[in-house]
Amino acid sequence: MNPVSSVVRGVGHHVPSKIVTNMDLSRLMDTSDEWIIERTGIRERRFVEEGTTTSDLAVPAVRMACARAGVEPQDCDMIIAATLSPDYFFPGIGTVLQNKLGMKNVPALDIRAQCSGLVYGLATADAYLRAGLAKRILLVCSEVQSPILDKTNRGRDMAVLFGDGAGALVIEAQSCPEGQRPTGKNTSRGVIDSLMGSDGSGAQLLFLKAPGSTTVGFMTQQSLDSGDIHPKMDGRVVFKNAVTRMLEAASTVLERNGLQPSDIDLVLPHQANLRINEAVREKLGISEDKVFNNIQKYGNTTAATIPICMSEAHEQGKIKEGQLVMTLAFGAGFTWGCNLIRW
Ligand code: UT7
Repeated sequence: MNPVSSVVRGVGHHVPSKIVTNMDLSRLMDTSDEWIIERTGIRERRFVEEGTTTSDLAVPAVRMACARAGVEPQDCDMIIAATLSPDYFFPGIGTVLQNKLGMKNVPALDIRAQCSGLVYGLATADAYLRAGLAKRILLVCSEVQSPILDKTNRGRDMAVLFGDGAGALVIEAQSCPEGQRPTGKNTSRGVIDSLMGSDGSGAQLLFLKAPGSTTVGFMTQQSLDSGDIHPKMDGRVVFKNAVTRMLEAASTVLERNGLQPSDIDLVLPHQANLRINEAVREKLGISEDKVFNNIQKYGNTTAATIPICMSEAHEQGKIKEGQLVMTLAFGAGFTWGCNLIRW
């Protein structure tokens, strides 16, 4: 029997229509357009209207991915969902989406890998597909982060960074032509390799404390008053770790597949900071035109950054069949990772 590989059949995205500029934020807190652009590259981001949930935002992204794949959500036999901002503390958005999309009673798996959600999700989908446990998987990454940001001076270091958005992929098991799994050296399509890493010693360097079991009472008035309900970060330490781990992940995956950085046609990095991506690109020695960034328009949409990049790159004709594509991520946990795909 021919081995199978996991091929991305369709990719879609959706962002809210409401644009929030740096200038808009400077009216709420002590910040400026210059500071935000210089430190992060971000010019604007999208925020949902009150009442829009993470699963609401995901639905149009899924519809776009399915339309591009020529399938219906009901044709998928598993859903993998990644978010740090679910509709409820529990259950996750996987089951909520199963219901909203009218899917069969398929397995719905939620992934909590924050900004590495797409990388972890694709690695997991690939493992299920190759093991023959699923045939077509819907991978959804969606975030509604605007309501959890502290949009006052106290939270300005975080509030200027994040936005809302969603991306989705339809990934299918495909029989490998001539029995050859994709290797990076042949023309077989699909996921070639994935790397996932973690270092929980960094958990409190980028986290949201309450609600959670480290808070006596889970969530209290004190959680509200102290700002524990908002995300916190040691930006400089996270920045350094992001550059180191993304570089390490890319180098390891290239080396173990016998590839040079110049063999990669397109890198789709997580969008946390343009300076992080620029540092990684420079150290890898990849030319600017081979790295896709859109943080300028959307800020950091956490799990959704990479699928939104993927969908926009597809729309702009920057990802073509047969190309070698690399994803790269780092985020809270800490988690990080990389997927290598023959598109
Ligand atoms: O997606 C998950 C992964 N996330 C990341 O990888 C993010 C990593 N970190 C970063 O991107 C950067 O560290 C930041 C963009 C968060 C911050 O940039 P920085 O160059 O590291 O700035 P800083 O934290 O060293 O702060 C510099 C100054 C401070 O003032 P002092 O102490 O120098 O007087 C801050 O108080 O900038 C001040 N500051 C601000 N000023 C205007 C912090 N936030 C703001 C703000 N507007 N919004």
